[in-house]
Amino acid sequence: MEILRNKSYEEVSKEAAKIITKVIQENPKAILGLATGSTPLGLYNELIKEFNEGILDFSEVRTFNLDEYIGLTPEHEQSYRFFMENNLFKHINLKIENCQVPSGVEVDYDKYCDEYEKMIDAAGGMDLLILGVGENGHIAFNEPNTRLGSATHIIDLTEDTIKVNSRFFRSEVEVPRQAITMGMGTIMKAKKIVLLLTGKNKSHVLNRLLNEKFITAEFPVSFLMMHRDVTVIFDEEACGEI
Ligand code: GLP
Repeated sequence: MEILRNKSYEEVSKEAAKIITKVIQENPKAILGLATGSTPLGLYNELIKEFNEGILDFSEVRTFNLDEYIGLTPEHEQSYRFFMENNLFKHINLKIENCQVPSGVEVDYDKYCDEYEKMIDAAGGMDLLILGVGENGHIAFNEPNTRLGSATHIIDLTEDTIKVNSRFFRSEVEVPRQAITMGMGTIMKAKKIVLLLTGKNKSHVLNRLLNEKFITAEFPVSFLMMHRDVTVIFDEEACGEI
């Protein structure tokens, strides 16, 4: 694991943008895996800036998002499709047909999860995957005690995650109880992974990841220690306890 410590959230975002820029400049047809949440917002703003300055061209890039809430339509303001459209897709020249976000409103999920997985494989796999992390160590929506080899699947969200994510909804009861998520197996197949960790509320996660060095399904982000090309980028607030 490569560890990059930065002063601020802004610097973390810039550092991550540099990595994406290099990947796209080396391969204009790069396949990216993308995350939602507040952490990658600064990174997405950097990418939009670089696009506006003519540094980046997304016309041949393809993207696959990590996850989506079950039951939320793409128009729902808290759906991850809505988030991606508004915070990234509509501001750059990605082709709409090249941006995949798992659907939260399918009828046959066995079939759909299999198709999502096959779509990523058919594209050649993810060249670079951007990850944030949940306060309980989940990545995408792979909650504690997830299976290492899992493919895209439906998961029951934990009470902790529902509580933490309720800040985006009017009340806790509105938070969907299930999500569709790339599995740990899908994530581990990405050629390169960048994990972003920022803010005080992630300091216990960073501390545990860097100091405990223990791989356990109970702390899904620890699986990343087995990947051969992971860069962890964090800010000073996140290393409060180190
Ligand atoms: C959600 C997403 C994760 C994300 C996490 C952290 O649960 N499914 O992909 O990493 O939230 O979000 P934030 O960056 O807002 O802390």
